[in-house]
Amino acid sequence: MKALAWHGKRDVRVDTVPDPGIVEPTDAIIRVTTTAICGSDLHLYEVLGPFIREGMILGHEPMGVVEEVGSEVTEISPGDRVVIPFQVSCGHCFMCGQGLQTQCETTQVRDEGMGAMLFGYTKLYGDKDGGQAEFLRVPQANYTHIKVPDGPPDEHFVYLSDVLPTAWQAVEYAGIPDGGSVTVLGLGPIGDMAARIALHKGYRVIGVDLVDERLERVRSRGAEVLDLREHEKDLAEVIRGMTDGRGTDSVIDAVGMEAHGSPGAKTAQQLVGMLPDAIAERVMEKGGVDRLHALHLAIDAVRRGGTISLSGVYGGMADPLPLLTIFDKQIQLRMGQANVKRWVDDIMPLLLDGDPLGVEGFHTHRVPLDQGPVAYEMFQKKEDGAVKVLLSP
Ligand SMILES: NC(=O)c1ccc[n+]([C@@H]2O[C@H](COP(=O)([O-])OP(=O)(O)OC[C@H]3O[C@@H](n4cnc5c(N)ncnc54)[C@H](O)[C@@H]3O)[C@@H](O)[C@H]2O)c1
Ligand SMILES: [Zn+2]
Ligand SMILES: [Zn+2]
Repeated sequence: MKALAWHGKRDVRVDTVPDPGIVEPTDAIIRVTTTAICGSDLHLYEVLGPFIREGMILGHEPMGVVEEVGSEVTEISPGDRVVIPFQVSCGHCFMCGQGLQTQCETTQVRDEGMGAMLFGYTKLYGDKDGGQAEFLRVPQANYTHIKVPDGPPDEHFVYLSDVLPTAWQAVEYAGIPDGGSVTVLGLGPIGDMAARIALHKGYRVIGVDLVDERLERVRSRGAEVLDLREHEKDLAEVIRGMTDGRGTDSVIDAVGMEAHGSPGAKTAQQLVGMLPDAIAERVMEKGGVDRLHALHLAIDAVRRGGTISLSGVYGGMADPLPLLTIFDKQIQLRMGQANVKRWVDDIMPLLLDGDPLGVEGFHTHRVPLDQGPVAYEMFQKKEDGAVKVLLSP
């Protein structure tokens, strides 16, 4: 089959690899019909190379049709239309029972001290080949799937794999009070969808980014927006000015470790990228290599006693944080990978009754899998108005 595989920093290729087959009786094989590129994939493309095996198939936002199931799979059968969550979870352990599927005790990557296995996401998360391919092997398939009805096109449902539950959890974890306000930092797919969900729930949304079309997409849905390029120095001050001098009740960070505006850490990330993998890995695990501009903005812009919800992915183990301010402002911090299955029942009604979140027009590009390498580059450079790219295998 054809698959998009990682070969090095900014080097993603279309490889021909063996078709996956059933390995465990709880596996299923999915024929992928649509698969998306995520901002998390960009971290692999740019920064997280030391943790990836060359040739690993990327991707964790696939949907398609069940092709084959293992002997213990009873919940899906060949022909079913399914979306695959980005994490592998069992549905019957203590953590899954708590709605913490990203901590699934059956698939936790214990050797690395990490949570549940993720598709296409480094050896830290189980070194599992991902879904930017014609076929995907899905472990724990009795639970690691979301059945969706026939009829609407793939773009109606594909975001259940990641964008929708991640944005939903970001808003839930933000703990916005009734009638309250939230600043959303970063208006890529995650921040954009979080803004749409917060608006749908009746909150005041202030969106921040530095890319024209991203600001415009969110503004057109009813949010107020601020262009970081115009407020490099005074963003939090401006947000306080808009909120009775306090700051918003909550802030969602949908930017992550490659934030614009952190020149020191950008250099550190680039230096780490030049080290041999084994050393780079240690530096990244022990040192502080995240670009923390957005997180610092969040701490500044949230009101006293407010909540910061981090969905942007961070990876440093010793990142310097202003604990004095976090403590003094009595800030609550919640974060983590999204527990996909935890939120499906909340989200599904918004997909089955009209399209209040505008999922069908959400993607800016759909290209054949063959053009994946070009699509990665376009998405990373934010060229041609790219916000969300779907691939057709
Ligand atoms: N927690 C989860 O489960 C989960 C799931 C999916 C994605 N993510 C993470 O969410 C983040 C966003 O993902 P995405 O797909 O939207 O990616 P993206 O890269 O398209 O979006 C990031 C946006 O942040 C903007 N930005 C950069 N620096 C900024 C700054 N200092 N202030 C404000 N905005 C800034 C960029 O212009 C861009 O529009 C990534 O870190 C990704 O890894 C987390
Ligand atoms: Zn993703
Ligand atoms: Zn589990």
